[in-house]
Amino acid sequence: MTARHAVSLTTATFLAFVATSTAAAADLANGQRIFETVCAACHGPGGRPDPDSPVVSAFDPLPADLSDPLFNSREPAGDWELVVKNGGHALGLSAQMPAQGDALSEADVRDVVAYVKTLADTRSYPPGEMNFFLPVRTKKAFPEDEIVWKSRWDGRDGEDVWRNVLEVEKRLGRRGQGLVEVIHEDDGATSEITEVEIGYKHALRWNAATQSILSGALVVAIPTDSDEPEEVIPYLAYGRAWSDRWVFQGSLTAAFPTDDAGSGEAAVAGAVHYRWTPWPRRVFPGLELTATIPFRDPGGDRVQFTVVPQLRFGLTRGGHVALNLGLELPLSDQSWDYRAHVNLLWDFADGSFFKGW
Ligand code: HEC
Repeated sequence: MTARHAVSLTTATFLAFVATSTAAAADLANGQRIFETVCAACHGPGGRPDPDSPVVSAFDPLPADLSDPLFNSREPAGDWELVVKNGGHALGLSAQMPAQGDALSEADVRDVVAYVKTLADTRSYPPGEMNFFLPVRTKKAFPEDEIVWKSRWDGRDGEDVWRNVLEVEKRLGRRGQGLVEVIHEDDGATSEITEVEIGYKHALRWNAATQSILSGALVVAIPTDSDEPEEVIPYLAYGRAWSDRWVFQGSLTAAFPTDDAGSGEAAVAGAVHYRWTPWPRRVFPGLELTATIPFRDPGGDRVQFTVVPQLRFGLTRGGHVALNLGLELPLSDQSWDYRAHVNLLWDFADGSFFKGW
């Protein structure tokens, strides 16, 4: 056997393996047949609705373009299976998207959604399956479009501090995200904007088979008080679905003050969420652990640990607006007794704040 034969034989075996392993998960030929007979009249044969068609122009809103790789990649297949089975209304979309749960079997629904996922070449876009729940402290890897209001109450002996952060994160290109944060603090005596943060995050790699994603980011924190140093904050964020139900996310952050980089600190955080149902408007428990390590030994406990039990409340039917409540407790000496976190998140790629309540 020549080397070339060996290569083509290996390739053929590999392709056969890929074909059988995807066929076991979803029958794309069946999916295509269903799409063409049931869905194409509204969605267009290639997934792009024809605005000149009288059927399509009657819709408000028009069905999205399923052949657009950004749109196609960012919505998890599981959400689309719910939409196809239960109709658009079930996830806060238009009821003009009809429920097919009576006409199609579970396998048919899986097949047709798997086929819809092939209507765009999404290889260079991180899949929406890895857009995991935002934890309280752990950084998130997926570059979604999100506006988050984070409110934190630090309970301290006699001098509580209330901190509010408005965070705007916007997808840039295939795998990037720009982010801006404005931080306001109120300690009873003064109430002011203390800092602005500007950054960029990039999805470095992901793996659809293991549902894992790794991103890197660089943030610059600019204090409003000109006596305070700026900080440069690189971080890595990782997420992985251990199973359908269990999701792990972890992040590694370092903060370097520009006047004295050695006086900065590193932070490690890890979060686990239990996704017990595919329905987004439910309550999901999570647990986080964090460790903060100053670069320079401060004397005493060097590493400070905290634990953050939390609950995510999906508020809209599609879960694009959600509330996250967490209680952070020190596991080692801290300057505070507890921290109460309230985060309100709005994934604005999925539509207006008021859609689908
Ligand atoms: C009678 C017309 C019609 C038929 C038939 C139809 N759809 Fe839809 N579909 C719509 C409309 C309209 C929307 C837009 C809903 C919205 O955005 O509020 C939609 C939305 C969707 C979405 C949601 C996209 C998102 O915004 O996340 C998916 C996925 C989808 N359809 C897939 C299918 C599949 C698969 C079939 C066939 C099994 C199908 N549709 C059949 C009209 C239809």
